[in-house]
Amino acid sequence: MKTLGRIAEVRESIKEWKKQGLTVGLVPTMGYLHAGHKSLIDKAHEENDKVVVSIFVNPIQFGVNEDLDAYPRNLERDSKLCEDAGVDIIFHPLASEMYFKDFCTYTDMDSLTHNLCGMSRPSHFRGVCTVVNKLFNIVTPDKAYFGKKDAQQLAIIKRMVRDLNIDTEVIECPIVREQDGLALSSRNAYLSAEERKAALVLSKALAEGRKVFEGGEKNATVVLDTMKAIIEKEPLARIDYVKIVDSDTIEDVEAIDGKVLVAMAVFVGKTRLIDNISF
Ligand code: PAF
Repeated sequence: MKTLGRIAEVRESIKEWKKQGLTVGLVPTMGYLHAGHKSLIDKAHEENDKVVVSIFVNPIQFGVNEDLDAYPRNLERDSKLCEDAGVDIIFHPLASEMYFKDFCTYTDMDSLTHNLCGMSRPSHFRGVCTVVNKLFNIVTPDKAYFGKKDAQQLAIIKRMVRDLNIDTEVIECPIVREQDGLALSSRNAYLSAEERKAALVLSKALAEGRKVFEGGEKNATVVLDTMKAIIEKEPLARIDYVKIVDSDTIEDVEAIDGKVLVAMAVFVGKTRLIDNISF
């Protein structure tokens, strides 16, 4: 396994592989890897000859008062996980390698980015789209792997790939959860023991929402109210949003009659966690 920091070095290896007719899978990450990332890497392995994992805490997807500096990092542990998983290249650039001092070209979207996480993180998805577009240009992967935990991000990246004719297939991978239901996230590392317990309220509320829906309830407000009531009972939790949206357009729905995404962001203590299910 090689760990490369320079774009030119990555391009050289990719060129070599492509000359040999090998396929390339990319797993874009911000590091602090966990079993959720490992599942993406394993899938990439199954479906490609070579696997590249990018580890880059992308500064332009963080807002001014967000956790860019505090975001957990551990390259040594990440490298071990990647090595054991048979990754071929870790791409771990400095911010100065990815962004020129006078960088001024962004990838942005008119819809899909304003609802859900875009409501409280208005520039977040511009940063995500820009860095993912750049990573696609650098690695030119045949396939790229994203987890459904960031369901809005996934819908946005799929749309970007479609709209910009990017020659990469986006593969969506299931959410990986702890045994008790908590969705894996690098940000779970911020939680105290007490907050970790309280964080279960997200998956519990989603499960209850599903139950109500499966019991025949089609009115989104009724399903949402059930879920919100569960979260509001937890003293350490504060709702950022709980919404039911169309899975493709990310627009709110009133009646649940097509494929919908039930998504939430909830602060547990100071940590903002997201989770979702689809009906
Ligand atoms: O999901 C993430 O970890 C990030 O948003 C991504 C896709 C690696 C872009 O920085």
